[in-house]
Amino acid sequence: MNRLNTKVAVITGAGMGIGREAALLFAEEGARVVVADIDGNAAKETVTRIEAGGGEALAVTGDVAVEADVERMIADGARHFGALHVLYNNAGVLWKDRDQSVLHTDGQWWDRVVAINLKSVFWVTKHGVPHLRRAGGGSIINMGSVSALVGFTRAQDAYTAAKGALISLTKSLAIQFARDGIRCNIIHPGIVDTPLQAPYLTDALRKEFEAGIPLGRIARPREIAAVALFLASDESSFMTGAELVVDGGFTAG
Ligand SMILES: NC(=O)c1ccc[n+]([C@@H]2O[C@H](COP(=O)([O-])OP(=O)(O)OC[C@H]3O[C@@H](n4cnc5c(N)ncnc54)[C@H](O)[C@@H]3O)[C@@H](O)[C@H]2O)c1
Repeated sequence: MNRLNTKVAVITGAGMGIGREAALLFAEEGARVVVADIDGNAAKETVTRIEAGGGEALAVTGDVAVEADVERMIADGARHFGALHVLYNNAGVLWKDRDQSVLHTDGQWWDRVVAINLKSVFWVTKHGVPHLRRAGGGSIINMGSVSALVGFTRAQDAYTAAKGALISLTKSLAIQFARDGIRCNIIHPGIVDTPLQAPYLTDALRKEFEAGIPLGRIARPREIAAVALFLASDESSFMTGAELVVDGGFTAG
């Protein structure tokens, strides 16, 4: 309890999946949470659950790929809670039907997938860092993927390229803002049981994935949120520019 006491955290894509779990967990640990999502009802539902547990949160609705939306959501969060300390760039999309091999992906879907998974971090950082500086420091957490670390025969090339670029951006932000007391790290989850994977996770595919994961199962959202909590908290105060792989041993095999 209280690992994030006094901190205000913005979590993008906090209406569902890992983002929602992180919002609930951060609030349990004393953070006040800005729940940002393109789905306003989902964001409100996360806030309702946080409030039911005695926590404090604000729902803000917008598209992380659109600068004006991000600017407004960050400003609303900062105004409401008076400061910002954590920017958790969690929102992302995996559209296996439209984002495949470069040979079969339409340019418009490439652009949209990269805008949501990568350009969003540009907007959140641009508009969020001034608040972290004003607070005397903070933590930026980016969401990568094991897709950025290894190739797959079933390709999602726009997603993979965006997540790979996030590794480089994470290191650049870590170095640039270190002297401001702002840390920046990236988490690479393996497969996690969330609405993002649900449309694709047939029983057969789940079994195939599980067979390739040394721990023998896919992750629960809370197992990723727990690592984000560590990176948001002062327990990780000497970590910046780091990549944390949370994949049940998949890439170690
Ligand atoms: N689930 C996995 O297996 C897995 C694996 C590796 C990495 N990740 C990464 O973890 C992050 C969270 O994934 P998840 O599985 O919880 O996803 P999810 O689909 O379950 O939830 C994503 C949330 O982001 C929101 N969102 C989507 N597009 C948005 C936009 N343009 N603007 C604002 N909000 C938007 C959705 O409404 C949703 O609430 C993503 O960055 C994803 O790439 C997930």
